[in-house]
Amino acid sequence: MFHEDLVIRRARDGDLPEMARIHFAAYPGIPLTLEDRIAHFRDDPRLPLEGNWVCERNGQLVALFALYDFQMYRFGLRFPTGGIGRVAVAPEARRERIANRLMAKAVEIMDQNGVPLSILHPFRHGFYRKLGWGLVEQVRFYRIPPQALPLFQERSAVRPAITSGELEDVMACYHKVAVAYNGMLVRDEPVWFEHVFKNRLVYYYRGDDTGDVEGYIIYRYNPHAADTEFLASDLIVSEMIWLNERALKGLLGFLSSQHDQIGSVDYYDHFNLPMEQLLNEPIMSGGHRSMILGAETAWIGSGLMGRIVQLRKVLTQGKFGEGRGKVTLKVKDELQPGNAGQLTVEFDDGGVELNDRRVAELTMSTDIATFSSIYWGALSLRDARYLGMVEIEGKGRDASFLDTVFSFPKSVCLDYF
Ligand SMILES: CC(C)(COP(=O)(O)OP(=O)(O)OC[C@H]1O[C@@H](n2cnc3c(N)ncnc32)[C@H](O)[C@@H]1OP(=O)(O)O)[C@@H](O)C(=O)NCCC(=O)NCCS
Repeated sequence: MFHEDLVIRRARDGDLPEMARIHFAAYPGIPLTLEDRIAHFRDDPRLPLEGNWVCERNGQLVALFALYDFQMYRFGLRFPTGGIGRVAVAPEARRERIANRLMAKAVEIMDQNGVPLSILHPFRHGFYRKLGWGLVEQVRFYRIPPQALPLFQERSAVRPAITSGELEDVMACYHKVAVAYNGMLVRDEPVWFEHVFKNRLVYYYRGDDTGDVEGYIIYRYNPHAADTEFLASDLIVSEMIWLNERALKGLLGFLSSQHDQIGSVDYYDHFNLPMEQLLNEPIMSGGHRSMILGAETAWIGSGLMGRIVQLRKVLTQGKFGEGRGKVTLKVKDELQPGNAGQLTVEFDDGGVELNDRRVAELTMSTDIATFSSIYWGALSLRDARYLGMVEIEGKGRDASFLDTVFSFPKSVCLDYF
């Protein structure tokens, strides 16, 4: 009823004041003036101005979103990935399904540009789930008193990264981990210097024998109230990467050694390291104890959401587990007709063949959000069946190969946008 007069198009210079106004009303918590926001739209190293899309109604700007051209590592390859951010609808235009329309347009643009995957940080999961994005991560938040960490002697090989050579070694260390994991993003130099390193301290672990940077930590301080505890701070880890055991020990030992200044270390763990095994008391700062919970060690969050935009491409470029058999996928996707309908897939111990015409005796029905969660390794097929999110039919057929072919390693993404 509202949409006949909507135009969604790329942003241009003349839109900047209105974009800043809409952004200011949508993200008041970001400490930027209107002028700062304009400068940010113009100079963001991750996105040129025309990577932003605006929505006009009767010639008036009412909404915007950003579509980042990310490259995501999966199976050691780079997959073009559309990162959606800055979704903002002007206060006078809300609850008219404009954000909904923006996301439909985003999927259309990504499809036209051959971008098979999309990721975003949701304001509300239900909104994006209906549009086909599923949960793709699990993040644990630890608030660790530094004295709970062992003072590993490997910390003696941890040094501040100061020179550009040292920072380049840190970037190379990220790259080594990123190619080995599913989900991490390719970063270029401006992203490192204007986002990742900006206003942060960087320390790295260098192996004596190899001379290589084998791990690093990037963090900032959050000082306590100056009038009561002027020397104390919390330490907020924004990124910690390690290639091996000694590097991890070095970094944790370094954090432990900050004991006299630091109240607690805040760490968002995307790798799901069983930190409780290591802490000398598995309780977070301010955490509670109870009979059933034991000690409150961490909080669990759901992290990013991800969406498959081009199912066929993803199926032919994926690495599937061992297993042989044929299944007809019936995937519901209201925004992307190319994903919806029936598709028969034949798995042959890692190899895949697609067939649009033949129907297999086994069928697997689900929606694209659930299939995306499975593909990112955040949901096993078995759990999805228990939860009623996937239905498998085919009397008398052995469906056990599906559990192995659709078994993907967990994904990790350390970027925020
Ligand atoms: C979040 C935000 C983008 C939503 O924009 P919006 O245009 O109001 O959103 P929509 O109207 O498309 O949808 C919102 C909900 O209202 C419902 N709705 C919209 N119009 C409706 C109508 N006429 N009748 C009934 N329901 C309606 C939609 O179905 C949707 O519900 P759902 O989540 O259950 O699907 C907007 O409030 C905003 O800019 N917020 C601040 C910034 C922010 O949080 N951005 C998102 C970052 S990821």
